Amino acid sequence: FLEVDIEGRVRLVMEGALTARDRVGVQDFVLLENYNSEAAFIENLRRRFRENLIYTYIGSVLVSMNPYKELEIYSKQQMDRYRGVSFYEISPHIYALSDNTYRAMRTERKDQCILISGESGAGKTEASKKILLYYAVTCPTNDRMAALGDRLLQSNPVLEAFGNAKTLRNDNSSRFGKYMDVQFDFRGAPVGGHILNYLLEKSRVVHQNHGERNFHIFYQLLDGGEDDQLNTLNLERNPQNYRYLVKGNCPRVSSISDKNNWKVVMKALPVIGFTEEEVQKLLNIIASVLHLGNTQFGEGEEGETYITTEISNLARLLGVDGSALREALTHKKLTAKGEEMITPLNFEQAEAARDALAKAVYGRTFTWLVEKINQSLALKDEIYHSSKGSSVIGLLDIYGFEVLQHNSFEQFCINYCNEKLQQLFIELTLRSEQEEYETEGIAWETVQYFDNKIICDLIEEKHKGIISILDEECLRPGETCDVSFLEKLEDTVGGHPHFVTHKLANGKTRRVMSREEFRLLHYAGEVNYNVNGFLDKNNDLLNRNLKEVMCQSDNQILSHCFRREEVIDQKRPEMAATQFKNSLMKLTEILRSKEPSYVRCIKPNDAKQPGRFDEVLVRHQVKYLGLMENLRVRRAGFAYRRRFEAFLQRYKPLCPETWPNWHGRLADGVLTLVKHLGYKDEEYKLGRSKIFIRFPKTLFNTEDVLEAKKPEIGKQQYCLGVHTCMCVYIYIVIVIQSGWRGMKARRRAKRRRQAADLIRRFIKGFIYRHGEYGPENDYFLDHVRYSFLKNLRKNLPKSVLDKSWPTPPPSLVEASEHLQKLHMRNMVTKYCRIVHPEWKKQMMQKVVASEIFKDQKDSYPQSVGRLFLDSRLEREQISLKVVQTLGNDKVQYGVSVIKYDKRGFKPRPRQLLLTNTFAVLVDKTKIKQRIDYTALRGENHPLSLPQGDLLLHCSHSIEMVTKLAMMANKTNNVNINPGSIQFTVARGKEGIIDFVRGAELKVTKGRRGHLLVVSQRLL
Ligand SMILES: Nc1ncnc2c1ncn2[C@@H]1O[C@H](COP(=O)(O)OP(=O)(O)OP(=O)(O)O)[C@@H](O)[C@H]1O
Ligand SMILES: [Mg+2]
Repeated sequence: FLEVDIEGRVRLVMEGALTARDRVGVQDFVLLENYNSEAAFIENLRRRFRENLIYTYIGSVLVSMNPYKELEIYSKQQMDRYRGVSFYEISPHIYALSDNTYRAMRTERKDQCILISGESGAGKTEASKKILLYYAVTCPTNDRMAALGDRLLQSNPVLEAFGNAKTLRNDNSSRFGKYMDVQFDFRGAPVGGHILNYLLEKSRVVHQNHGERNFHIFYQLLDGGEDDQLNTLNLERNPQNYRYLVKGNCPRVSSISDKNNWKVVMKALPVIGFTEEEVQKLLNIIASVLHLGNTQFGEGEEGETYITTEISNLARLLGVDGSALREALTHKKLTAKGEEMITPLNFEQAEAARDALAKAVYGRTFTWLVEKINQSLALKDEIYHSSKGSSVIGLLDIYGFEVLQHNSFEQFCINYCNEKLQQLFIELTLRSEQEEYETEGIAWETVQYFDNKIICDLIEEKHKGIISILDEECLRPGETCDVSFLEKLEDTVGGHPHFVTHKLANGKTRRVMSREEFRLLHYAGEVNYNVNGFLDKNNDLLNRNLKEVMCQSDNQILSHCFRREEVIDQKRPEMAATQFKNSLMKLTEILRSKEPSYVRCIKPNDAKQPGRFDEVLVRHQVKYLGLMENLRVRRAGFAYRRRFEAFLQRYKPLCPETWPNWHGRLADGVLTLVKHLGYKDEEYKLGRSKIFIRFPKTLFNTEDVLEAKKPEIGKQQYCLGVHTCMCVYIYIVIVIQSGWRGMKARRRAKRRRQAADLIRRFIKGFIYRHGEYGPENDYFLDHVRYSFLKNLRKNLPKSVLDKSWPTPPPSLVEASEHLQKLHMRNMVTKYCRIVHPEWKKQMMQKVVASEIFKDQKDSYPQSVGRLFLDSRLEREQISLKVVQTLGNDKVQYGVSVIKYDKRGFKPRPRQLLLTNTFAVLVDKTKIKQRIDYTALRGENHPLSLPQGDLLLHCSHSIEMVTKLAMMANKTNNVNINPGSIQFTVARGKEGIIDFVRGAELKVTKGRRGHLLVVSQRLL
């Protein structure tokens, strides 16, 4: 009867469902009529599951059923379908949630997180991978970021190889909790990542239940490793040969290809930054754990323990001294009253020490691996850390509530974790609901919900909580054991309403509890925990001498994992449960600072089979995931809310005043509409921009009316004749108009968005303009360079004398210098190409004059502007007779000079004529003296001659000396001297010319037979 009733109700829901609803059931549980009915909830899940609709919402929470088969819903096309589409417009999907979270991060600039929970095998890890893939494919990217996306994706197979194992419930079960941050830059491109790992199930290294396996990596190495590799590690291919791999009696699993996975892992390791050496060290550690498992002990006659197997390989692989390891595996070091004592271990203790070492080695290596992956995912640019532009999406893939036949310390921790996450969920969901009510101006109605703080306190409270009691019991001197811990619990928290033991229980409960169990009444239901092993697991002890040996390992990974300080530091490290509690506190802090979204995963059956819906199993999960509680909180106020315009648009045909168009305020339109529809006051409320409808029934009724009215609306439009026709035309015009306007507005919005993006990039670039060229400033720096070059092109100097040049930005200083030189060279080349030969000759002479006279002779600067002439004498001024005498030696230059006699210094007017090889002094028609250029010595004096020097005065001395020096090829031999100059009168006889400053130029005979030259300028 119940079934029929439920079926009937669900069918009713379906029939009245919104057309936007899926073909089957409701796509959002908030639309379930009877939201308190677990049966209706499960029925909705079943119906959708049967049609492969594995996703359903509870408001913003996504419920995901594991299909146990590949569905065609994860393609690139599907990703595109969900990009930028509003959450509720399209059928529920993990991509919709991913996209919505991403867009919320981009538009609200607030960090987001996605919490994925569910039982083992429910599909958490698969969901998290799909989210990551969605971001890797759809987010904007460039080469550098693509490499990061690659590393993000490649870190998965590595972590899974080391942290996942085949269990009875999941062939690829994550045996650790994982929280991963993906960092995005201001453009929305993924730029970094960071992983936090929680509570690796280390006990699996040494023990597996029947039908389960150790961590994948061991089998992968044995199956996929090269022969050489295995030889070096001294391993055999058969997993049956290793004691740590045979406990579960399940070396192979049909759904897993260890060989292929090994290849994937080996390929991934270099991608995430592992060197060859590191890979080898890692393999050594994996192999050493296997060898450790095969280390056996024997018992001597006096009860002493010794190792019966060869441990040299083990020591080699661990990189430690063999005898020290042997000693440490069979003895224990104690410090009593300040003295160190070494006591032998008995057989069981030695085995426990060995196992503890294997767990520690593996566990710490796993933590190292995560650190290493984090280094590879870390933002390379420190700038981003301080950058306001970057935002984060966190992904939490963590064990859901676990209720097994026998629950132990691990389940206790896991369930405590879920209790904390539920607390956070309630807090955050209620907060966001409350905020929405506030912004909409609707009075907040208190929601009744179960506050699980009482259970969290029971577990975590300082001094009084279960964890504190467990720690105390571990530390207490004297005989302690798991049972004494249970007794202590009974003494301390015995009266707590959420705590029961066999002793405290009533008859009915007592029957289903053993004496070694305590029961916690979690928010999701009751769980019995067996105290066996609690103390040991919490202690997680490794003998000190084993730590000492490991510290000295020459394997860098191990020496990094086992720090010397740990041995020196006498303080006891925190117990496992407390460590977990603290890391959980940190995690909740991280999550609280972000905007959360939730994925709740459910597995349909335990057999890992597609298409099988095990109702009992599903009900169990719905209960322990707290989904009914989720729904109740979400539905506590109003089931449905919609923006005014959307509501009015959909239902306006149902009211004559709002059809075909409402021209007033939207809120008034909605009010008119709902009044016409006969909504009662308690059924709805109008906020500032949204209508809130309390019951789905109200909405469904309205929807039914709309369905019923559709043909009539069509007919109405048909029969209204010409007027209607007009209306239709007007309507069409309006549609086209609004379409056109919409398009224009969209374009405008796009342009604005682009502009805003550009400005943002600009500002950011400006802030980081002095940093290294990188993604945060590349646009700005490129722009600055581009503008400089563009500006330079317009303002290049036009002549070689123009030395102006625009100031370059710092990043272009060097290039600018090169450009300036190039440009100058270019101008010079161009100039030279067009220069006239005459002018060239002139310039060459001027250059020589400059070399000789610049900074040497006072009158030089005045001479620069005056052109040198080809000759200072006209052709007719030179006597024909002289020309004839010279014959082939053409006069190249002629100038009038005054020659002074060497003895009496009598002035005589002369002509100085220069030919190509000699010069002549001419007195009217007579050549008085010929001076061969080769005879010019020029050692001490200008134009010194062997037969005695010539003393000439010329009013074009710079021009004359330049020409003479050039023709004689003696430009380096010109001496210029103030004061006085010595000259040769005749062979062996010296004369002197004195230069004196005076108003007028005078050349006369001075005292002591010197020639006195008086001049305004001495040089
Ligand atoms: N969306 C899906 N499509 C197809 N198969 C899926 C999907 N989700 C999960 N599965 C199947 O279920 C298996 C278990 O999923 P997954 O490893 O994600 O579970 P889990 O919740 O992470 O479990 P555990 O807590 O043990 O790690 C996968 O190996 C895969 O075969
Ligand atoms: Mg998993």
